[in-house]
Amino acid sequence: MNNFVFYSPTCFVFGKETENQAGAYVTRFGGTKVLIHYGGGSVVRSGLLDRVKASLDAAGIPYVELGGVKPNPRSGLVYEGIELCRREGVDFVLAVGGGSTIDSSKAIAAGVLYDGDFWDFYCGKAHVAKALPVGTVLTIAAAGSEGSGDSVITKEEGMFKRGTGSDALRPKFSILNPALTQTLPPFQTASGITDILAHLYERYITHTQEVEVTDRMIEALMMTLVKEGPRVIEDPNNYEARANIMWAGMMAHNNSCGVGRSQDWLSHQIEHELSALYDCSHGSGLAVTMPAVFSYELPHAVMRFAQVANRVWGCPMDFANPEATAKAGIKALQNFLTGLGMPRNFAELGAKEEDIPKLVETLCYGDGGNGTIGGFLTLDTAACTEIYRAML
Ligand code: NZQ
Ligand code: ZN
Repeated sequence: MNNFVFYSPTCFVFGKETENQAGAYVTRFGGTKVLIHYGGGSVVRSGLLDRVKASLDAAGIPYVELGGVKPNPRSGLVYEGIELCRREGVDFVLAVGGGSTIDSSKAIAAGVLYDGDFWDFYCGKAHVAKALPVGTVLTIAAAGSEGSGDSVITKEEGMFKRGTGSDALRPKFSILNPALTQTLPPFQTASGITDILAHLYERYITHTQEVEVTDRMIEALMMTLVKEGPRVIEDPNNYEARANIMWAGMMAHNNSCGVGRSQDWLSHQIEHELSALYDCSHGSGLAVTMPAVFSYELPHAVMRFAQVANRVWGCPMDFANPEATAKAGIKALQNFLTGLGMPRNFAELGAKEEDIPKLVETLCYGDGGNGTIGGFLTLDTAACTEIYRAML
């Protein structure tokens, strides 16, 4: 196991009706004027926004609102939010929604306290040293942004989708009420489960030896998703299944399962170009990307893929031919995702073969890249092209 520092100071408030405590938690973490940031309207329709406002009113906290965050959140609204916060003297950003809303909130929170262009944080020109405090009321189990220091934003000019990370961006508190996810359309529920699985695989695929504790934690979370995923698709109102998935989503990405080991993240890098270009859900992009990336990686990590195949997907271990077991595990993952309603290939995702050169170009050279991307393996443009072509 490698040396590590694990810092995850978010206060998690989990369970039924916990959104009514939003005002009390803003007070606890020092907020006196709040920006409520939300998405395209699901929180208005569900009545959640009204409940959060009532909670702030009860705590005597004034607020301003900014809705309209799109999935794959854009830079334009971030600039608007920064401007609004400065004008109104906001000192706390409250995200009410999914990963996109939370990521946009983090970008605003960092941008308000920065003299330059907030995009500097996302193109590697600057590191987020400070940010306004952020709280979240989560409505979808997926990105894990409620427990992470990460934020992913798409710059509209050029449609560059890029991420940044800093401990300053970790939410002060996150309110997780699984019942809030019951209004999700099945496709979004499935996209979320796929993303959570991807966060687990990205950590599982490692060069580090003897990481039994995190291996077993990852496997336990994967097995939970394998059990609860189909249950929640069949019965969207199953609170207990939703609860297990919601907590798995947080655990998968606050890095408790990733400490002390090298990680991969090639699937995420390759996927981000798809959701940037086609505006598909991040999870559906991952459903198509993961099997292609894993098949490419397999010869370099046969025993690792065989281990997850055996322990999580129940594939019998073929000691004479572990590669066959490893391949069966990737097939089992793909079948699981298809069973949830996720796409299998470019056509089902709405992606086009003729765009592959553009995807590779932006991935490897966009924002000043040097022609390769790094993760478990270092991939050049030929390798990235081969992986995108495997998704056809
Ligand atoms: O915008 P509204 O109207 O709220 O609708 C949203 C949106 O259309 C809807 N939705 C969310 N909760 C709902 C609901 N509809 C009905 N009932 C509810 N309870 O679902 C749609 C998707 O929402 P979004 O916030 O985009 O989902 P998700 O949480 O999957 O976030 C995706 C974004 O997070 C990034 C992705 O790249 C993508 O941009 N990621 C962020 C990470 C991080 N910060 O750590 C890590 C991830 O790997 C990921 O890259
Ligand atoms: Zn993800």
